[in-house]
Amino acid sequence: MTRFLYIADTHLGAVQGQGYCQQPRYAQRLPALLDALTRWMEARPELEISFVLHGGDMVDSVDPGALRQAGEVFRLPVPVCLSLGNHDLTSRDAVELWRTVVPCLFPQGRLAFTLECDGWMVHSVPTQWCDEHYYWEEAQQPHLSVEDLAWLEAALAAHPDMAHLVCTHGAFVGVPTAQTGFDTAYHVPPVAWTATLLRLIRCYPQLKVVFGGHTHINSHVRITQAHLVTASAFVETPFEFKLVEVTPERFTLETVSLLPYLSFQAGYDWNRTFVQGRGCDRGFVATVQTSGPASRWTGDFGSSC
Ligand SMILES: [Fe+2]
Repeated sequence: MTRFLYIADTHLGAVQGQGYCQQPRYAQRLPALLDALTRWMEARPELEISFVLHGGDMVDSVDPGALRQAGEVFRLPVPVCLSLGNHDLTSRDAVELWRTVVPCLFPQGRLAFTLECDGWMVHSVPTQWCDEHYYWEEAQQPHLSVEDLAWLEAALAAHPDMAHLVCTHGAFVGVPTAQTGFDTAYHVPPVAWTATLLRLIRCYPQLKVVFGGHTHINSHVRITQAHLVTASAFVETPFEFKLVEVTPERFTLETVSLLPYLSFQAGYDWNRTFVQGRGCDRGFVATVQTSGPASRWTGDFGSSC
């Protein structure tokens, strides 16, 4: 059994009152929030959390000082690794800075990397946002580089007997109307980006779970055997993260709020509770049977997800 935490969109250095958010944002409280996360882990030694996977937008914008600060505040009791988000790529020398200032965030020294868990392979692949890779200004054209896609497909093909989880910052599908109550799906990505995922799901039944960020919304959409999960922003009320437990037979996800562990008052927009998701968006248990390439995967859900 392996347990790890998933967080996203910490936007270190963001200016209060500015920038995209779904709920009131307290990026300036990130050190206190990470202290609370550490206390949460230390109060539960039996969980034996192995690592924290950060789904991107660790910082709000890239400069050497911000990355040095990230290296300091993300010094947790367990290793932290980063799947780069668009805000982590706001400078043309971002890759060089990440590699030199905080190389410990990238296992194997690669920006696309794999972590092996108990019967699972967790692949982190950076989303690219425009024709100039590893750089983001405004464009929202998410895609994977040809090299990274080939690397990912080779890893999936090489281990059909294992369950695979892919983490990339860009969300692959919009937030369903059943969750938001809106007339149409919310935050819908370009069709080509969704098509990339649909092809991977179709070609590789061993791809079981996909983690994203970017929307700052907890969501959970199932497409055939694959569960697509996005996280709300760690620095927005109610300061949530995901506890993940994997075994060769099972995947369990739970969304946890740090609000009870904080000493400051935080506002909340009660007109936007969809951001936190329904019960089925916030947690689920699924059973995997990896007996051969055509592995079966059954979800165990309490509601409509
Ligand atoms: Fe973000």
